[in-house]
Amino acid sequence: MGFCHLDMGWETVECSLQRIFRGTRFFGVVPEGTVSSSSSSSSPSSQKLIDKEYEFSAHNYHPIPVVFSQAKGSCVWDPEGNKYLDFLSAYSAVNQGHCHPKILKALQEQAESLTLSSRAFYNDRFPVFAEHLTRMFGYDMVLPMNTGAEGVETALKLARKWGYEKKRIPKDEAIIVSCCGCFHGRTLAVISMSCDNEATRGFGPLLPGHLKVDFGDADALEKIFKEHGDRIAGFLFEPIQGEAGVIIPPDGYLKTVRDLCSKHKVLMIADEIQTGLARTGKMLACDWEEVRPDVVILGKALGGGVIPVSAVLADKDIMLCIQPGEHGSTFGGNPLASAVAVASLNVIRDEGLAERSAQLGKELSNQLLKVQQKYPNYIKEVRGRGLFNAVELNGKSLSPVSAYDICQKLKDRGVLAKPTHDTIIRYTPPLCMSLEEIQEGSKALADVLEMDLPKLHQMKPKDVSTAASSACDRCGRVLYG
Ligand SMILES: Cc1ncc(COP(=O)(O)O)c(C=O)c1O
Repeated sequence: MGFCHLDMGWETVECSLQRIFRGTRFFGVVPEGTVSSSSSSSSPSSQKLIDKEYEFSAHNYHPIPVVFSQAKGSCVWDPEGNKYLDFLSAYSAVNQGHCHPKILKALQEQAESLTLSSRAFYNDRFPVFAEHLTRMFGYDMVLPMNTGAEGVETALKLARKWGYEKKRIPKDEAIIVSCCGCFHGRTLAVISMSCDNEATRGFGPLLPGHLKVDFGDADALEKIFKEHGDRIAGFLFEPIQGEAGVIIPPDGYLKTVRDLCSKHKVLMIADEIQTGLARTGKMLACDWEEVRPDVVILGKALGGGVIPVSAVLADKDIMLCIQPGEHGSTFGGNPLASAVAVASLNVIRDEGLAERSAQLGKELSNQLLKVQQKYPNYIKEVRGRGLFNAVELNGKSLSPVSAYDICQKLKDRGVLAKPTHDTIIRYTPPLCMSLEEIQEGSKALADVLEMDLPKLHQMKPKDVSTAASSACDRCGRVLYG
């Protein structure tokens, strides 16, 4: 099995990690009698850390019970020295692989000279990053932020401001259209567009000024534009819906969206926070249909898995609608983030990660399709583009076992994947993952279905259906599961 699969700059770290973990190249649970070479007797165990987090941190996540203690490339180790293959990549934030040496070098060098100026002053890294990013993606300007949700908030504010100034939408009447099943983050404006009841219930009142449309349905979009077009400032969408379960729109959808947005003078706003930066086999997922959105939002892998960096790209006629004092963030465009972002972009370009994702994505999907052929009863669909893949399980034959249970079993076999909703498992490894590791990841799924699922079925009593509670509060449809 390959260790890390990048050509440049990994050797030193690879060798030292191989030294550290020599003899512990097993997956999952430590075999009895094995002494972990990475954890000293004084370092807390995984279970202690999990318990501590449960005690002292808000319960806003339900993690798979594995503790990351070290990581390199596509591999992760827990405090006991167990090794895992990462098939989530922190939701595509580590496209370049964990702890990429060139990104770490940029971080270290910058940290030694300047970390923060705030935008009250200039710094000598942000202008370099701004030029680099805008040239790379062919936009006039960038507005830097930190997290993805902030990037989306920024794009929404920008669209509203543009709507009032350029489109002459009457005061406070601007509308943003978004898609059923979308995920754009967790802030109030953003959850106001969500169809996921868990994200919205108990957090009202939600923000007004939104309309929903089915994802992938160009006719529905046209209808809404015809009915409300004079007040619609922007159409916000993910080119492939990630959190909804890697939902790919019909061919030609993005092109039609482009035409409709131009025709009705609506900003086409692509949230490429998860799909962008080589994840789907192109630099942007919109590149698959060669469309140029008016506004592009980037995040996650822009910070190379090292530091939060997000960015909104647009041309001057849009971006300059925002004036000094109207929007910003203390840390947005900070020199540390700027240096890291430049290095992160260069790694993606220099290591051909988009091409790599396209090639290995075919391999991964072939492997997963073979698993589906073997277990057609359990796997409803395998879909994806590049290394952005999902396995949709058949809720009925799986029940009462959930995708979460399957992910726990995958973890025991050394593969880390995360469920989305009750029946979908994402397979989205770092783009540096080797072919052998990809094969191991799909073999682990086959093994879980073959060996673990029958046992889980025996252990878990058949339960009640949860369909009623998962119907969307807005439209009553069951989008997930
Ligand atoms: C498409 C998309 N937009 C926005 C976000 C929010 O990003 P963040 O968690 O950095 O706020 C995510 C996170 O998963 C995402 O997938």
